[in-house]
Amino acid sequence: MKITKEQKIWVDQTIGKIEAKMYDVAVRNVHKIPYLSESGVYNDMSESKVYWWTNGFWPGIMWQMHHLTGEAVYRQAAEETEEKLDRNFLMAEKLDHDNGFKWLLSAVADYRIMGSSESRNRGLLAAQLLAGRYNPAGRFLRAWNEWGGQKHTGWAIIDCMMNLPLLYWAWEETEDPRYLQVADGHGKTALRHFVREDNSVRHIVELDPDTGEFVREHGGQGYGEGSSWTRGQAWGIYGFLLSYIHTGDREYLYTSQRIANYFLANIPENNLIPADFRQPPECGWEDDSAAACGACGLLELSKYVGEADCRLYRDRAVRLLQTLDRECLSWSRKTDHLLERCTVAFEGDRHNHPLIYGDYFFIEALLKLADKELFVW
Ligand code: GLY
Repeated sequence: MKITKEQKIWVDQTIGKIEAKMYDVAVRNVHKIPYLSESGVYNDMSESKVYWWTNGFWPGIMWQMHHLTGEAVYRQAAEETEEKLDRNFLMAEKLDHDNGFKWLLSAVADYRIMGSSESRNRGLLAAQLLAGRYNPAGRFLRAWNEWGGQKHTGWAIIDCMMNLPLLYWAWEETEDPRYLQVADGHGKTALRHFVREDNSVRHIVELDPDTGEFVREHGGQGYGEGSSWTRGQAWGIYGFLLSYIHTGDREYLYTSQRIANYFLANIPENNLIPADFRQPPECGWEDDSAAACGACGLLELSKYVGEADCRLYRDRAVRLLQTLDRECLSWSRKTDHLLERCTVAFEGDRHNHPLIYGDYFFIEALLKLADKELFVW
C-alpha cells in the first residue's frame, strides 16, 4: 500500500513490536482459544464454549503471524484450534451466521497457506451450513438461533456481511453458483434495509420471514433503536466492500463509501471510538475493536477509490491506528492482549475490556499497511 515515509517508519516499528510481543503470547497460550483477557491473561474457550463466535480470531492472528514470520508455534496454535472447532459441527443449535468468522480465519486460512484437503473440507462444510440458513422467500440469512431467550426467525444483522466471504470463497472454490446466489441475495437485502438515509447502519433488522418485508429495526448491541453501534458501522464499511471485491457490483462499493464517510464524520475530536456514536455524552464506553475494524475497512476501501478519497481513507485509518497505539495498547510482553478498551455490547458487563477481535483487526490493519497481510476474506 502506498504510504508516506513517516507512516512507513511508524508501520515498521509497530510491526516489529507486534512480532516481539506475539511470539511470547503464542508460546504462553499455544493450547488455548482466547476470547478476552483478565488481568493480562487470555482466557480459554476450548472446553467452556468451543462454539463461540469469536473462536476464529485466535487462529486468524496465528495465521497472520505465521504468514509474516514463518514461526512454527503460530501454525501449531492455529491447527490445534481448527481441530477443536470440529466439535462445533455437531452442535446444530450452536451454529449460526458466524460460520465465516469461525472457519474463514481458521480452516480456510489454513487451506490458503498449506493447501490441506482436510481444511478445505471444513471450509466447505461450514459454507454449506451457513448457506442452509438462507430464507429464500425473504432473501436473507437468518441471524442467531435465539437472542434474549427467544427465537427470532426474521432477524438479520449487519455483522453477517463479514461472514459472506465464506460463501464467496466456496463459490470460487467449487464454481457452484448457489453460494454466490445466497451471498449476493443476502447482500442485496442488506443494501435495501440496513443503511439509513443519513448513511448510518442499523444493527438488527426484523423482516417478515414469509415475505421478507421490513418490519422494524432493533438497537441490538448498540445504545438503542435508532442509534449507531460503532462496531456495526465498521462491519458495514468492510462487509459491503468485501461483497464488492467478490462480485464486482458497484452498489456495494458506493454503500461501503457512504458508511465510511458517515463514520469519519462522526469520530470525536480525541479520535477514540465510542461504543455507539449516539450514546449519551457522559458515557465513557469505548470500542477499540470498532476503531481497528473500521481502519481495516478504510484501508481496503482506499484501494478501490480515486486518489483524493484513497489518501483520505488511508490517512484517517492510520490516525485511528496511531491513536490506538499511543493510548489504548498494552505493549508489555507480560500481558497477552493488545487493545485495552473494547466493548462487547452496550447492554451487558464487558465495557472497555480487552477482546480478541480487537487484537485481530489491529494486526490485520498494520499488515495491510505493510503489504504483508494474508487476505483471509
Ligand atoms: N455480534 C458480533 C459482534 O459483537 O460484533
